[in-house]
Amino acid sequence: MREQIARIGIVTISDRANRGDYDDLSGPAIAEWLEKALSTKWEAMTRLVPDEQPKIETALKELSDDQGCCLIVTSGGTGPASRDITPEATEMVCDKILDGFGEQMRAISLQHVPTAILSRQVAGIRGSALIINLPGNPSAIAECLDAVFPAVPYCIDLIEGPYLETKEDVVGAFRPKHARKG
Ligand code: MTE
Repeated sequence: MREQIARIGIVTISDRANRGDYDDLSGPAIAEWLEKALSTKWEAMTRLVPDEQPKIETALKELSDDQGCCLIVTSGGTGPASRDITPEATEMVCDKILDGFGEQMRAISLQHVPTAILSRQVAGIRGSALIINLPGNPSAIAECLDAVFPAVPYCIDLIEGPYLETKEDVVGAFRPKHARKG
């Protein structure tokens, strides 16, 4: 039988990176964090889109419905500026919103930077994909993913995605006893 490779979407949402005004630093930093954290075999499906709600929604739907990503991590567009529209796009495509992710990421981020309160980041479920918004600052990536990732593998079990395993020395995956393999 062919070994299952978990697909993970990484979506950078930025007008300026999309125009080529600067390089996308966040997408590669998310991939690097995941590479360090996951022991399960996985592959990245990366997308770079401008801050436009229909384009963000299309990317999220394509990655979940067509590419079969079990997890989609977005970066950017979560703030209060007029073009920031990532949470609205995420909410629009999700069947369920998981409020605890945004709450926890903001709480942890506030220990690093007072402007963390400006992020409206959310997370939710579309079909068999968990979508998590991160703020656009590359330094937010590890701060936020360290804080919520312990709950991600079990969340993906519950939505019938692949059984994700992590490198315990980087980030532990918490599962209730009955859900643990072996
Ligand atoms: N959270 C963390 N952990 N680190 C950060 O540097 N930046 C904040 C906030 N959350 C930040 C953070 C700032 S300054 C803004 S404006 C908001 O995220 C929204 O950023 P975004 O619009 O790039 O998503």
